[in-house]
Amino acid sequence: MGDAGASVMFATAEAPGRFNLLGEHTDYNNGFVLPVAIAQHTRLRMQVNGTQRFSLHSDQLAQRVEFSLGEPPAEHFASYVYGCLMLVEGLMQGLAPASGLAGLNIEVDSDVPIGVGLSSSAALEVACLRCLRTMFGLQMDDVALAQLAQRAEIEFAGVRCGIMDQMASSLADTWRALLIDTRSLERRDVPLPADSAVLVLDSGIPRALAVSGYNERRAQCEAAASLMGLMSLRDVRDASALQVLPGLLLRRARHVFTENARVLAAGAAGISASEFGRLMNESHASLRDDYEVSTPELDQLVALLQRDRRVWGARLTGAGFGGACVALCRSGDVAAVAQSALEGYAALGHHGQQLVPTDCRSA
Ligand code: GLA
Repeated sequence: MGDAGASVMFATAEAPGRFNLLGEHTDYNNGFVLPVAIAQHTRLRMQVNGTQRFSLHSDQLAQRVEFSLGEPPAEHFASYVYGCLMLVEGLMQGLAPASGLAGLNIEVDSDVPIGVGLSSSAALEVACLRCLRTMFGLQMDDVALAQLAQRAEIEFAGVRCGIMDQMASSLADTWRALLIDTRSLERRDVPLPADSAVLVLDSGIPRALAVSGYNERRAQCEAAASLMGLMSLRDVRDASALQVLPGLLLRRARHVFTENARVLAAGAAGISASEFGRLMNESHASLRDDYEVSTPELDQLVALLQRDRRVWGARLTGAGFGGACVALCRSGDVAAVAQSALEGYAALGHHGQQLVPTDCRSA
């Protein structure tokens, strides 16, 4: 993580949210993911305030939170920033024991939709760490920054997340997918197949029990790997190896095994849009039936998209339990697909919306 350089009194930084095209709940199993950054960003402005206290203000949430290091704030959104500050304070003390963070006024401004599975928390963490990197001249590359952001979320916000969201916010583009091996953190760009563009829709269902359900899934994956004598589910070589597992764990592990294979297939050169879409449809079925992180409303919205002949494939995106879905559409038909899916969804009594006019389309 290198040394700290000169500090400045004031800095600004921003970072995007993300959606994920394929590879859900694979990252904490050391597997493969395929996220894309969105055009919406979280922006932070920090200024030394001459005290030992931190004042955090969010326009969107209309909240101001004051805290000191060592005194965790009760407000959930502040815990992400607090976690980043605590970790950077630890880094700086490791470099020079007498040093530490001076008090800061921090302004947050964001147009990343909150709580729908587009990683508003990772955008906040990455923007915060970028700002601190500039303020304190920290020698930290974008991968190390993503790793620190992930630690902030696990250690201070209580979500035992993988590294996809922070890597995507730190390193992904808005117009093509980034295939990440979450074990080695090696990555490469994956262009969209010819004649395709991406649509992201919110099901309008707030994510319920997401943290507890998420941490429970992760524990189940760890239990399954340990029963198979493996470090992680990434190491399953053959579907037949899953047969030693009891029913529930077998289904969880089968999702991870098949999902990893789908990401690798989607990353193969020259894949057609229809094949890519088929992988997305299979991913949704696996998340619904084996991983059980979909909701009836997400299933309805995804089914409406999948039935549209202008759509190559559709699936929920992010952790699930509500929130958003993503569809791969024929280029040029994105707006019409969004309109007809949202009308069909409204006829079922639900209110969805298009979240992200994405830049992600075939070249
Ligand atoms: C959340 C987590 C990620 C990942 C996804 C599911 O977004 O933060 O690490 O596990 O869920 O793929």
